[in-house]
Amino acid sequence: MQNHGSLIYEGKAKRVFTSQSSPDEVFIEFKNSATAFNALKKAEFHDKGRLNCQISASLFEVLETHGIPTHYLGVVSDTWMAAQNVQIIPLEIVIRNIATGSLCKETPIKAGTELNPALLDIYYKDDDLGDPLITEARLDKLGLLTNDQRSDVEDLARRVNKCLKEFFNQIDLTLVDFKLEFGITNRRKLVVADEISPDTCRLWDQRTSDLQERILDKDRFRQGLDHVMEAYGEVFKRVQGAYSKPRNYK
Ligand code: TMP
Repeated sequence: MQNHGSLIYEGKAKRVFTSQSSPDEVFIEFKNSATAFNALKKAEFHDKGRLNCQISASLFEVLETHGIPTHYLGVVSDTWMAAQNVQIIPLEIVIRNIATGSLCKETPIKAGTELNPALLDIYYKDDDLGDPLITEARLDKLGLLTNDQRSDVEDLARRVNKCLKEFFNQIDLTLVDFKLEFGITNRRKLVVADEISPDTCRLWDQRTSDLQERILDKDRFRQGLDHVMEAYGEVFKRVQGAYSKPRNYK
């Protein structure tokens, strides 16, 4: 990718670079690496960067059509996206529509229980601390968000859930749960940031009732199942079938 500036940040699945043309923009490269359990498990998957970049781009465009602000500007290539330069709020907002994953490890709630209204869990984003679940009182102590920002984050996350649940349902996918990150732009606007992909969502295929086959997300890798990229590819195919290709940036 030409035209990007220096590396600002490297995470487990993406790299973020400055833009040479504007301080308000960044370029994000989606990598092929996958990690789970706070990077205890690692692997490389051919084509993962492209699939996550293109799926995320389309989903950000879907959110945009529903008036939900995001950092996304457009795709620049298969694996690169242009986005607004935001300060990431170090919180992971998880919305759960169906109980599974850590919720069922940490509480007696039975796997498969429908959660309506959806459960919203907030985690403090810090790999060294293992991204702990935090309480409202701890969030207050951290002083990361004003009360208004906190309610804006929660409202936006619930709007994202409503919009994506409906979108995925149209393509026979159940949005079980997902993780969002938020950022503040240089103009102090709160936007959905990071990525929305099979790395950060649990998606179950409604076209099969087989409990393993229906998993079309990173749980395949977490659980040691095969056909991880075929699953991501299926999500990509359905998302682009319903939405068309994401726009190019400049
Ligand atoms: P959990 O059940 O492990 O708490 O995961 C809830 C959702 O959040 C699931 O869709 C996967 C996503 N997630 C991430 O995107 N990043 C993470 O680091 C973790 C732990 C979960």
